[in-house]
Amino acid sequence: MYLAANDIKEHFRYDPFKAMVAPRPIGWISTRGADGRDNLAPYSFFNAISSLPPMLMFISSGRKDSLINCETQGEFAFNLVSQSMMSAMSRTGVDVLEDEFELAGVEKAECRTINCPRVALSPASMECVVTQILPIRDKDGAETSCTMVMGQVIGLHVQPEWVTEDGLFDTAGADLVARCGYRDYAVNSDLIELSRGG
Ligand SMILES: Cc1cc2nc3c(=O)[nH]c(=O)nc-3n(C[C@H](O)[C@H](O)[C@H](O)COP(=O)(O)O)c2cc1C
Repeated sequence: MYLAANDIKEHFRYDPFKAMVAPRPIGWISTRGADGRDNLAPYSFFNAISSLPPMLMFISSGRKDSLINCETQGEFAFNLVSQSMMSAMSRTGVDVLEDEFELAGVEKAECRTINCPRVALSPASMECVVTQILPIRDKDGAETSCTMVMGQVIGLHVQPEWVTEDGLFDTAGADLVARCGYRDYAVNSDLIELSRGG
């Protein structure tokens, strides 16, 4: 079955796009506003875009606080979400003016090199400096409501319990949560090892 983009929605109860581009890592993004107010929100249009240097991006659909704080302050932290933090993460995904750390009962800690909070108990947090903020355009060059925020990782906090004796990050042990479509999430606890070319 082939469906042109405009016909997809009528063949499904809900748009399948996010269920097909899945699972997506969740960037739990913490920022501080120009007024000093702390902010925490999940972004699943999020990913690594480079490893040398390490760089990340997230997409704000509309002008959300995380985007505005990145514009004015030029920094953010990315916090990994483990399964035990799932409902707190979800509570920070609502549009409110107050500090979502407090709203969702998430313990915060200060970043070291940027003026920004981080999730104290996250398996790992990365301190990032904003490098580019790009409006997303469609195929006709028209601006969409989406904006990409890119940042370079300049520091890492990691919980020692997730660093193995042979010096690896224990991705499966950290029980990381990823976003699928609809109301679904996946847990990253079942890894398969395969050598490149194998
Ligand atoms: C799992 C999850 C993933 C989300 N991903 C995005 C996303 O990629 N882009 C976006 O604009 N909003 C996304 N949202 C919604 C935002 O988190 C929500 O609008 C939040 O209130 C934004 O907060 P802020 O204004 O403090 O940045 C997501 C929500 C959840 C629960």
